[in-house]
Amino acid sequence: MGKKVTVSTLAKRCAAGEKLVMVTAYDAPGAAAAARAGIDFLLVGDSLAMTVLGYQNTLPATMDEMIHHCKAVRRGAPDAFIVFDMPFMSYQVSLEKAIENAGRAMKESGADAVKFEGGAEYAPLISRLVEAGIPVLPHIGLLPQRIQAVGGYKVTGRGDDAQRLLADAKAFEEAGAFGIVLECVSRDAAKMITDSIAIPTIGIGSGPECDGQVQVFHDIIGMFDGFTPKHSRRYAEAGKLITDALASYARDVREGTFPADENCF
Ligand code: KIV
Repeated sequence: MGKKVTVSTLAKRCAAGEKLVMVTAYDAPGAAAAARAGIDFLLVGDSLAMTVLGYQNTLPATMDEMIHHCKAVRRGAPDAFIVFDMPFMSYQVSLEKAIENAGRAMKESGADAVKFEGGAEYAPLISRLVEAGIPVLPHIGLLPQRIQAVGGYKVTGRGDDAQRLLADAKAFEEAGAFGIVLECVSRDAAKMITDSIAIPTIGIGSGPECDGQVQVFHDIIGMFDGFTPKHSRRYAEAGKLITDALASYARDVREGTFPADENCF
Protein backbone atom coordinates (compact mmCIF):
# COMPACT_ATOMS: atom_id res chain seq x y z
CA MET A 1 0.00 0.00 0.00
CA GLY A 2 1.53 3.36 -1.04
CA LYS A 3 2.03 6.09 1.51
CA LYS A 4 -0.92 8.40 2.10
CA VAL A 5 -3.56 6.87 -0.14
CA THR A 6 -6.45 9.34 -0.36
CA VAL A 7 -9.76 9.66 -2.14
CA SER A 8 -7.98 11.43 -4.99
CA THR A 9 -5.33 8.67 -5.27
CA LEU A 10 -8.15 6.17 -5.70
CA ALA A 11 -9.92 8.38 -8.26
CA LYS A 12 -6.68 8.81 -10.24
CA ARG A 13 -5.94 5.08 -10.22
CA CYS A 14 -9.46 4.38 -11.42
CA ALA A 15 -9.26 7.05 -14.14
CA ALA A 16 -5.98 5.47 -15.29
CA GLY A 17 -7.86 2.21 -15.79
CA GLU A 18 -6.34 0.43 -12.77
CA LYS A 19 -8.65 -1.94 -10.91
CA LEU A 20 -9.04 -0.95 -7.26
CA VAL A 21 -8.49 -3.67 -4.69
CA MET A 22 -10.15 -3.57 -1.28
CA VAL A 23 -10.35 -6.18 1.46
CA THR A 24 -11.93 -6.16 4.88
CA ALA A 25 -9.65 -5.92 7.90
CA TYR A 26 -10.53 -6.35 11.54
CA ASP A 27 -7.28 -6.35 13.49
CA ALA A 28 -3.69 -5.09 13.42
CA PRO A 29 -1.96 -8.23 12.03
CA GLY A 30 -4.56 -8.62 9.27
CA ALA A 31 -4.28 -4.96 8.30
CA ALA A 32 -0.48 -5.17 8.27
CA ALA A 33 -0.65 -8.25 6.00
CA ALA A 34 -3.02 -6.44 3.63
CA ALA A 35 -0.68 -3.44 3.52
CA ARG A 36 2.31 -5.68 2.78
CA ALA A 37 0.27 -7.37 0.02
CA GLY A 38 -0.31 -4.02 -1.72
CA ILE A 39 -4.08 -3.86 -1.23
CA ASP A 40 -5.30 -0.37 -2.21
CA PHE A 41 -7.72 0.28 0.66
CA LEU A 42 -9.23 -1.44 3.68
CA LEU A 43 -12.80 -1.81 4.92
CA VAL A 44 -13.44 -2.34 8.61
CA GLY A 45 -16.68 -4.11 7.74
CA ASP A 46 -19.53 -4.81 10.11
CA SER A 47 -19.00 -8.37 8.82
CA LEU A 48 -16.67 -8.49 11.83
CA ALA A 49 -19.79 -9.39 13.82
CA MET A 50 -19.69 -12.74 11.97
CA THR A 51 -16.02 -13.22 11.12
CA VAL A 52 -14.43 -12.37 14.46
CA LEU A 53 -17.24 -11.98 17.02
CA GLY A 54 -19.11 -15.19 16.19
CA TYR A 55 -22.60 -13.79 15.53
CA GLN A 56 -24.94 -15.24 12.89
CA ASN A 57 -25.32 -11.94 11.01
CA THR A 58 -24.00 -8.36 11.02
CA LEU A 59 -26.81 -6.75 13.03
CA PRO A 60 -25.30 -7.00 16.53
CA ALA A 61 -22.15 -4.94 15.69
CA THR A 62 -22.05 -1.71 17.74
CA MET A 63 -20.32 1.63 17.23
CA ASP A 64 -18.01 0.87 20.17
CA GLU A 65 -16.99 -2.51 18.71
CA MET A 66 -16.45 -1.04 15.25
CA ILE A 67 -14.29 1.76 16.70
CA HIS A 68 -12.30 -0.73 18.80
CA HIS A 69 -11.48 -2.85 15.72
CA CYS A 70 -10.86 0.13 13.44
CA LYS A 71 -8.28 1.51 15.88
CA ALA A 72 -6.47 -1.84 15.75
CA VAL A 73 -6.56 -1.78 11.93
CA ARG A 74 -5.11 1.74 11.95
CA ARG A 75 -2.29 0.62 14.27
CA GLY A 76 -1.51 -2.30 11.93
CA ALA A 77 -1.60 -0.21 8.73
CA PRO A 78 -0.70 3.40 9.59
CA ASP A 79 -0.65 4.60 5.95
CA ALA A 80 -3.70 2.75 4.66
CA PHE A 81 -6.90 4.37 3.45
CA ILE A 82 -9.43 2.90 5.87
CA VAL A 83 -13.20 2.88 5.43
CA PHE A 84 -15.36 2.51 8.55
CA ASP A 85 -18.59 0.56 8.09
CA MET A 86 -21.45 2.22 9.98
CA PRO A 87 -23.19 -0.53 11.99
CA PHE A 88 -26.91 -1.30 12.07
CA MET A 89 -28.98 1.53 13.64
CA SER A 90 -26.04 3.96 13.84
CA TYR A 91 -27.35 6.00 10.87
CA GLN A 92 -31.00 4.97 10.40
CA VAL A 93 -32.52 6.81 13.37
CA SER A 94 -32.11 10.41 12.15
CA LEU A 95 -29.89 12.58 10.00
CA GLU A 96 -28.44 14.25 13.11
CA LYS A 97 -27.67 10.94 14.82
CA ALA A 98 -26.06 9.62 11.61
CA ILE A 99 -23.82 12.69 11.30
CA GLU A 100 -22.90 12.44 14.97
CA ASN A 101 -21.96 8.76 14.63
CA ALA A 102 -20.01 9.29 11.39
CA GLY A 103 -18.13 12.09 13.16
CA ARG A 104 -17.41 9.75 16.05
CA ALA A 105 -16.07 7.15 13.62
CA MET A 106 -13.70 9.68 12.08
CA LYS A 107 -12.56 11.24 15.34
CA GLU A 108 -12.15 8.11 17.47
CA SER A 109 -11.18 5.28 15.12
CA GLY A 110 -8.61 6.78 12.75
CA ALA A 111 -10.79 6.02 9.71
CA ASP A 112 -10.50 8.04 6.49
CA ALA A 113 -14.07 7.52 5.26
CA VAL A 114 -17.38 5.93 6.19
CA LYS A 115 -19.62 3.44 4.42
CA PHE A 116 -23.27 2.64 4.98
CA GLU A 117 -25.97 0.56 3.33
CA GLY A 118 -29.07 1.96 1.64
CA GLY A 119 -30.61 3.68 -1.36
CA ALA A 120 -31.20 7.19 -2.69
CA GLU A 121 -33.04 8.13 0.53
CA TYR A 122 -29.56 8.53 2.03
CA ALA A 123 -28.36 11.09 -0.55
CA PRO A 124 -29.09 14.01 1.86
CA LEU A 125 -26.94 12.30 4.50
CA ILE A 126 -24.10 11.92 1.99
CA SER A 127 -24.30 15.63 1.09
CA ARG A 128 -24.13 16.64 4.75
CA LEU A 129 -21.19 14.34 5.50
CA VAL A 130 -19.27 15.48 2.43
CA GLU A 131 -19.92 19.12 3.43
CA ALA A 132 -18.49 18.27 6.83
CA GLY A 133 -15.37 16.80 5.17
CA ILE A 134 -16.21 13.12 5.57
CA PRO A 135 -15.67 10.97 2.46
CA VAL A 136 -18.53 8.52 1.91
CA LEU A 137 -18.73 5.14 0.21
CA PRO A 138 -22.39 4.05 0.09
CA HIS A 139 -23.34 0.38 -0.37
CA ILE A 140 -26.23 -0.78 -2.57
CA GLY A 141 -27.56 -4.09 -3.88
CA LEU A 142 -27.69 -6.87 -1.32
CA LEU A 143 -27.82 -5.12 2.06
CA PRO A 144 -26.86 -7.54 4.86
CA GLN A 145 -28.29 -5.19 7.51
CA ARG A 146 -31.75 -5.73 5.94
CA ILE A 147 -31.73 -9.52 5.77
CA GLN A 148 -34.51 -9.81 8.35
CA ALA A 149 -36.76 -7.60 6.19
CA VAL A 150 -35.78 -9.11 2.84
CA GLY A 151 -35.77 -12.69 4.10
CA GLY A 152 -32.21 -13.70 3.22
CA TYR A 153 -29.24 -12.99 1.00
CA LYS A 154 -30.58 -12.38 -2.53
CA VAL A 155 -29.07 -11.22 -5.81
CA THR A 156 -30.32 -7.78 -6.89
CA GLY A 157 -30.44 -5.78 -10.13
CA ARG A 158 -32.41 -8.22 -12.27
CA GLY A 159 -35.10 -6.83 -14.59
CA ASP A 160 -36.59 -3.49 -13.49
CA ASP A 161 -34.54 -3.56 -10.30
CA ALA A 162 -31.51 -2.44 -12.35
CA GLN A 163 -33.13 0.98 -12.91
CA ARG A 164 -33.76 1.40 -9.17
CA LEU A 165 -30.09 0.71 -8.42
CA LEU A 166 -28.98 3.06 -11.21
CA ALA A 167 -31.14 5.83 -9.73
CA ASP A 168 -29.53 5.20 -6.30
CA ALA A 169 -26.04 5.31 -7.83
CA LYS A 170 -26.73 8.57 -9.69
CA ALA A 171 -28.20 10.18 -6.56
CA PHE A 172 -25.08 9.19 -4.60
CA GLU A 173 -22.73 10.50 -7.27
CA GLU A 174 -24.65 13.79 -7.31
CA ALA A 175 -24.48 13.97 -3.51
CA GLY A 176 -20.68 13.65 -3.56
CA ALA A 177 -19.93 9.99 -2.71
CA PHE A 178 -16.38 9.06 -3.75
CA GLY A 179 -17.40 5.56 -4.85
CA ILE A 180 -20.15 2.98 -4.44
CA VAL A 181 -20.06 -0.62 -3.21
CA LEU A 182 -22.25 -2.94 -5.30
CA GLU A 183 -22.99 -6.17 -3.45
CA CYS A 184 -24.46 -9.12 -5.34
CA VAL A 185 -25.78 -6.96 -8.16
CA SER A 186 -26.31 -8.92 -11.38
CA ARG A 187 -23.34 -8.59 -13.71
CA ASP A 188 -25.32 -6.76 -16.42
CA ALA A 189 -26.75 -4.20 -13.98
CA ALA A 190 -23.34 -3.65 -12.35
CA LYS A 191 -21.78 -3.02 -15.77
CA MET A 192 -24.59 -0.63 -16.72
CA ILE A 193 -24.15 1.31 -13.44
CA THR A 194 -20.34 1.36 -13.81
CA ASP A 195 -20.66 2.71 -17.35
CA SER A 196 -23.21 5.35 -16.27
CA ILE A 197 -21.37 7.07 -13.41
CA ALA A 198 -17.92 8.64 -13.11
CA ILE A 199 -17.12 7.56 -9.54
CA PRO A 200 -15.66 4.07 -8.99
CA THR A 201 -17.89 1.06 -8.38
CA ILE A 202 -16.45 -1.49 -5.99
CA GLY A 203 -18.07 -4.86 -6.53
CA ILE A 204 -18.56 -7.91 -4.37
CA GLY A 205 -20.38 -10.58 -6.30
CA SER A 206 -21.15 -8.03 -9.03
CA GLY A 207 -18.86 -9.11 -11.84
CA PRO A 208 -15.52 -8.07 -13.30
CA GLU A 209 -16.73 -4.89 -15.01
CA CYS A 210 -16.83 -3.00 -11.69
CA ASP A 211 -13.96 -0.54 -11.23
CA GLY A 212 -12.71 -2.48 -8.23
CA GLN A 213 -13.42 -5.45 -6.01
CA VAL A 214 -13.88 -5.94 -2.27
CA GLN A 215 -13.79 -9.28 -0.51
CA VAL A 216 -14.08 -10.49 3.06
CA PHE A 217 -10.63 -11.27 4.50
CA HIS A 218 -11.71 -14.56 6.09
CA ASP A 219 -13.26 -15.85 2.83
CA ILE A 220 -10.07 -15.14 0.87
CA ILE A 221 -7.74 -16.80 3.37
CA GLY A 222 -10.01 -19.79 4.05
CA MET A 223 -10.80 -19.23 7.71
CA PHE A 224 -14.31 -20.64 7.49
CA ASP A 225 -14.46 -24.43 7.31
CA GLY A 226 -16.07 -25.81 4.21
CA PHE A 227 -17.91 -22.66 3.09
CA THR A 228 -16.88 -20.27 0.35
CA PRO A 229 -19.50 -17.82 -0.96
CA LYS A 230 -20.03 -18.11 -4.74
CA HIS A 231 -18.67 -14.58 -5.19
CA SER A 232 -15.41 -15.35 -3.42
CA ARG A 233 -12.28 -17.42 -4.04
CA ARG A 234 -10.26 -19.23 -1.39
CA TYR A 235 -6.57 -18.37 -1.84
CA ALA A 236 -5.37 -20.29 1.23
CA GLU A 237 -6.50 -22.78 3.84
CA ALA A 238 -5.63 -20.66 6.87
CA GLY A 239 -8.27 -22.31 9.07
CA LYS A 240 -6.80 -25.76 8.45
CA LEU A 241 -3.24 -24.46 8.86
CA ILE A 242 -4.09 -22.97 12.27
CA THR A 243 -5.96 -26.08 13.47
CA ASP A 244 -3.05 -28.31 12.37
CA ALA A 245 -0.49 -26.09 14.14
CA LEU A 246 -2.53 -26.10 17.37
CA ALA A 247 -3.01 -29.87 17.17
CA SER A 248 0.76 -30.34 16.74
CA TYR A 249 1.42 -28.12 19.76
CA ALA A 250 -1.09 -30.10 21.88
CA ARG A 251 0.48 -33.39 20.75
CA ASP A 252 4.03 -32.22 21.56
CA VAL A 253 3.06 -31.06 25.05
CA ARG A 254 1.29 -34.34 25.76
CA GLU A 255 4.20 -36.41 24.45
CA GLY A 256 6.73 -34.34 26.41
CA THR A 257 8.63 -33.11 23.31
CA PHE A 258 7.70 -29.45 23.97
CA PRO A 259 9.24 -27.46 25.61
CA ALA A 260 12.60 -28.83 24.39
CA ASP A 261 16.09 -27.78 25.55
CA GLU A 262 16.14 -24.81 23.13
CA ASN A 263 12.93 -23.44 24.67
CA CYS A 264 14.39 -23.37 28.21
CA PHE A 265 16.30 -20.61 30.03
O1 KIV B 1 -19.08 -5.66 6.15
C1 KIV B 1 -18.57 -6.03 5.07
O2 KIV B 1 -17.68 -6.88 5.03
C2 KIV B 1 -19.08 -5.45 3.84
C3 KIV B 1 -18.58 -6.01 2.56
C4 KIV B 1 -19.29 -7.26 2.28
C5 KIV B 1 -18.69 -5.04 1.45
O3 KIV B 1 -19.91 -4.59 3.89
